[in-house]
Amino acid sequence: MNLSPVPREVCRRVSDLRACIEQANYRYYVLDEPDLPDADYDRMMRELEALEADYPTLVTPDSPTRRVGAAPACGFGKVRHALPMLSLDNAFAQPLSQDADDSVRFAEVFHFVQRIEEAIKQHDPLFSVEPKLDGLAVSLRYEQGRLVCGATRGDGEMGEDVTANVRTIRAIPLRLRGHGWPQVLEVRGEVIMLRRDFEALNEHARRQGEKTMANPRNAAAGSLRQLDSRITAHRRLSFFAYAVGVVEGTELPDSQFASLQCLCRWGLPIAPDIATARGFAGLIAYFRDIAAGRDTLPYDIDGVVYKLDDRAGQRILGFVARAPRWAIAHKFPAQEESTTVTAINIQIGRTGVATPVAQLVPVQVAGVTVGKASLHNADQVMRLDVRVGDSVIVRRAGDVIPEVVRVISGRRLANARPWQMPELCPVCHSKLMREEGTAAWRCSGELICAAQRKETLIHFASRRAMNIDGLGERFIEALVDFGYVHTPADLYKLDLHDFLEMKRRADARDGTMPETAKQGKAAARWAHNLLAGIKASRPTGLANFLFALGIAHVGQSTAKMLAKWVGSLARLRAMPVLLLRVLPDIGSEVAVSIVTFFAQKGNCQVVDELLAAGVHLNDEGPPEPAWRQRLSLAVLLRMADITGLGPRNSALLAQLFPTLDAIVDAGAATWSRAGVPAKAVHALETFLADPVMLAQLRTA
Ligand code: IVH
Repeated sequence: MNLSPVPREVCRRVSDLRACIEQANYRYYVLDEPDLPDADYDRMMRELEALEADYPTLVTPDSPTRRVGAAPACGFGKVRHALPMLSLDNAFAQPLSQDADDSVRFAEVFHFVQRIEEAIKQHDPLFSVEPKLDGLAVSLRYEQGRLVCGATRGDGEMGEDVTANVRTIRAIPLRLRGHGWPQVLEVRGEVIMLRRDFEALNEHARRQGEKTMANPRNAAAGSLRQLDSRITAHRRLSFFAYAVGVVEGTELPDSQFASLQCLCRWGLPIAPDIATARGFAGLIAYFRDIAAGRDTLPYDIDGVVYKLDDRAGQRILGFVARAPRWAIAHKFPAQEESTTVTAINIQIGRTGVATPVAQLVPVQVAGVTVGKASLHNADQVMRLDVRVGDSVIVRRAGDVIPEVVRVISGRRLANARPWQMPELCPVCHSKLMREEGTAAWRCSGELICAAQRKETLIHFASRRAMNIDGLGERFIEALVDFGYVHTPADLYKLDLHDFLEMKRRADARDGTMPETAKQGKAAARWAHNLLAGIKASRPTGLANFLFALGIAHVGQSTAKMLAKWVGSLARLRAMPVLLLRVLPDIGSEVAVSIVTFFAQKGNCQVVDELLAAGVHLNDEGPPEPAWRQRLSLAVLLRMADITGLGPRNSALLAQLFPTLDAIVDAGAATWSRAGVPAKAVHALETFLADPVMLAQLRTA
């Protein structure tokens, strides 16, 4: 090691080497025009490493040699995204006959464009059209041009800190190139593995006798989420940018496409197939073009994305839940394969819904082995007339559970008998009942039914609910089967001894080998960690808790909204339907479901027991002030007793507009676009057209 002053020529050589290596990365990943042979690249890297070893004072965190990864971390830290990472609504290509009109065949895209045209009052607007890359979304934060943080999408608001891992990806610049970049720039994009790198990785694994990966997506996700980033460094990952998050200091162009070009100039790769297109016809032409060349692309894609190019237009359209209204993913038709049904079983879900599931002779569909497929409900089995022994077509669409699409009737065996819904739950033998007005059958066993209890607990402990680390499905099943837990509250009553005993019984039942001394220690550590995981889940947020309760129709985004607007559990428990109805996006079905949930004694008991067991909500607060305003507006409209404007539409208007004046200013066309029925629009219009009535309403 040399601590004496660094000779000038060494400084110069180090800086030249870095510039050459960075330029080579840029040409390779961003321009896709490599001009430096691998051997030369490696030689320069080695020379730079040697010089940095000799003169450690020259080492900088963004030197290309620092892409080697760091020692294993004990877990990923959490990162709150300054701007949430959104998802996209999907449009699926309908498997209709080839000759159907495009506006019918691609009806969802057609309506998407139509809605935009109406909102921004422009015909055939310009879109940025992009391949939908099949990898893992990440957000990269650059401050003063330096990469300071990389995070996964997580739940969109909170992701995992994978800075050490993304730093090893050569396609991601550690410093931005050129000039004019914002002081703070968050770049969103997809970490993927190119097909050729995926093939090479699997080939290597095969030669080593190791497990191979199912598809490039899994390989990319598995490689990026390594606690030991040195492993990530050895996997060849790529990255393509497709959006920005926070931008501070300078503004980006008011166009999605032009912004991506800026990113490209600053050294961030963007997918080469990104283009612009006008109007519905332009989008469909792009879709067909990409679909035709899909197999020859260097990476896997599962569709294309259309984004309204103009940001001013994007602002007009805004968002619903967690997806922008100005963008949509147009997915390719799902991949299909044929196989044989060996049995039709009934699976009981969390709320008791009985779903018929086809057991299949395992088949590879789009790179994944499919051994069972959903038949959705009894009506669907009847409609498709699926029978045990039938040859069927199964389909996988993205992450969705595989499904049976149709029976190949010509191959039916002579003795195949029609299927019938069994009368009893296969798990608890309670009666299966048909739910009125729906296609669903339910097990009437509720809490007696072990299947329902298991699913309730799996949901309760899941990452987006109470996030109990270390409690896998196998142990949840054992906890229920051996009677350790009946309700989620029981989880908090178990001790180390219970867990170890349960694990021994589960292992014995599953035929796992008897414990050696070493395994005994591992089991003790497991139980200890699990107990710590349960303890750590006690302080939680109101949204997580509400989601964990598994109230029908209360998904994650509704739970978040309730937490934000209502603010406290006690307040929510006491809330009548009418008050809930004025909350954003709450229809009467959801409102009734919430009220019904808290009206049931059993549910209240579980909630109280959870609170008594030390579960506490660390983010309760006052209700959202806007709620009070909406509430009074809804009540006001109700009191005005406008013929034709019932309580439902009063609540809807109060949901849509903050004040009475906002309603008046918006006008009839906007009310109906926002979903107010024609009759109510007419009633309100007539009422407000009368200056006396309007004045009265205002003074009220
Ligand atoms: S834009 C504002 N563009 O698709 C919208 N997403 O379903 C934010 N994805 O989580 C996403 N290619 O992982 C966008 N060209 C593209 C994309 C893309 C792939 C993924 C991304 C996102 C998911 C949304």
